[in-house]
Amino acid sequence: MCGIYAAINNSSVTDFLISGLSSLTYRGYDSAGVAVFNGTGIERRRAEGKLSALSDLLKIQPLDGKVGIAHTRWATHGLPNEQNAHPHMTARVAVAHNGIVENYEKLRVMLESSGYIFESETDSETIAQLITYYLDFGLDSEQALCKALADIEGSFGVVVIFSDDADKLYASRKGSPLILGRSEDGFSVSSDVNAFDESINSITHLKDGDVAKLTPDSFNIFNLEGQSIVRLMQKIEHEKNVSGKQGYKHFMLKEIFEQPQVFENTWRHYYSQVDGEFKLPKLPFNDKDIERLSLVACGTSFFASMVAKYWLEEQAGIPTDIDIASEFRYRNVPCAKNSAALFVSQSGETADTLAALNHCKSQQQPCVSLVNVLTSTMATESDGVMPTLAGPEIGVASTKAFIGQLTTLLVLTLALKNSRAYKKDTPQPNIAEIMTTFPDIMNGYLSDTSHIERVAMDLKHVNNILYLGRGIAYPLAEEGALKLKEITYIHAEAYPSGELKHGPLALVDEEMPVVMIVPPGPLFGKSMSNLREVASRGGKIYLISDKEGISQAKDFIKHGIEMPDVDPILVPLLYTVPLQLLAYYVALYKGHDVDQPRNLAKSVTVE
Ligand code: AGP
Repeated sequence: MCGIYAAINNSSVTDFLISGLSSLTYRGYDSAGVAVFNGTGIERRRAEGKLSALSDLLKIQPLDGKVGIAHTRWATHGLPNEQNAHPHMTARVAVAHNGIVENYEKLRVMLESSGYIFESETDSETIAQLITYYLDFGLDSEQALCKALADIEGSFGVVVIFSDDADKLYASRKGSPLILGRSEDGFSVSSDVNAFDESINSITHLKDGDVAKLTPDSFNIFNLEGQSIVRLMQKIEHEKNVSGKQGYKHFMLKEIFEQPQVFENTWRHYYSQVDGEFKLPKLPFNDKDIERLSLVACGTSFFASMVAKYWLEEQAGIPTDIDIASEFRYRNVPCAKNSAALFVSQSGETADTLAALNHCKSQQQPCVSLVNVLTSTMATESDGVMPTLAGPEIGVASTKAFIGQLTTLLVLTLALKNSRAYKKDTPQPNIAEIMTTFPDIMNGYLSDTSHIERVAMDLKHVNNILYLGRGIAYPLAEEGALKLKEITYIHAEAYPSGELKHGPLALVDEEMPVVMIVPPGPLFGKSMSNLREVASRGGKIYLISDKEGISQAKDFIKHGIEMPDVDPILVPLLYTVPLQLLAYYVALYKGHDVDQPRNLAKSVTVE
């Protein structure tokens, strides 16, 4: 999950490279580097740490040229330092790589025994050395590149420049996304379409096995055997750039406050005022008789899938399996008959989820992706797509995308419920009313976060926290614990409240803070019993519940976070917000980089 950007034009590329990288740092920010052909040879600048370090270096040691490559790194092999920063190069070639060279050790032994000297600990440097090996063997640039890539096992998105073929830029992919962009003045290559600036007027997605050869005025695409491939450029509409923090201290906080709008945009996108019901895009399965659904995702997207399982089974009567993609992809899961697979992903580029999608496609299972990036690989490779309309999410910790996912999954559930006339004699959610009232309920809750800030102040020095929830509140406990972990670095674990007595209750004492999510509903009473189990062992309870819940538990809890009344089906969307705010303010008080927490990246495009 590194970020790659490259460009070739008739004027100068360095500013393009840095501007492109600045939109890719969410993919990794351990180090960054650029390499350009400066007219006589390839010159490189690299810096450890965030992109600003590289920009500062370029101010004192500028680089310029008409073809260049750039990279921002999330370390997989080798420390996050300058020596291991990309681009990796020899005197003849420079390479920026996203992915994992799984056979790099074997290749490195062969190359070192042939006299090639490595300067880094990375797997990626193998690619530069291997291309050089074939160049030294007498092959031309294109042949040397194709031979080297054919030797690579694992995944790659690579951009390559050659010192003795300097009017060309090469790009190729196997498993890691790369998109070509064309402007009036030349071509760019990026890991993510959102990194293209307004000068790019058309794009095309490279597919696995494609090799692109670019000059300022032309592009050719062929496979590793040299056979020509046609990829059509499509016009690109640049989203009105709503980036920038717009007065918020962090993107994450801005994105939390955008959630009411995300809900409304997504709900309206699917709701037909004319028919008073949801209109789904064409789906590759029969909504009336589908017998089973399988939801596959990672991280926060998996917890959105977990919420959806409760909805789909309770509201639409559809048995639903949920799987973490990195587990699913290696289990060789037999696809149930008359079933469909749904892949939930903000980026649409998560390697594990993509691999799971490919597994299901290989079994001819209908595949639908619920993604926030419509031009993503997942979207282009699925049989059906349901957008989540959250807009670009910059904070590594996912918030508004989660709300977009929940909204889309709820729309899907209610649409399937309606088309299957499931439990049609029971009270139906009033979808018209929900659309008009819920954004205001969410905005109302967000209008005063002082109570959350006080709880965060209480928790900022703890080392461990338990999150408990029952029924549909359990996935919220998991998501709340993940939010806290990933930006505060506090160890947080989530459990189904009913599971506590089977072991985890041993963790509870006066030192253990416990966040309990107890919405009104059929499990309220049982959850209150679990709360008293915790209280009787001295646990410090922070209760998220409605007015009645807080009132009933007031003698047993350290702090009550009161939630406004809401349609039960919307509880997962509303009760997520205090969990997001709690994680945000604890991280803020701990002085952490909230938007780019350590060790992480926004899109995990390697396994
Ligand atoms: C969530 O806060 C994390 N950033 C992470 O768990 C993320 O949800 C996961 O990597 C999946 O990403 P995706 O939705 O882009 O597939």
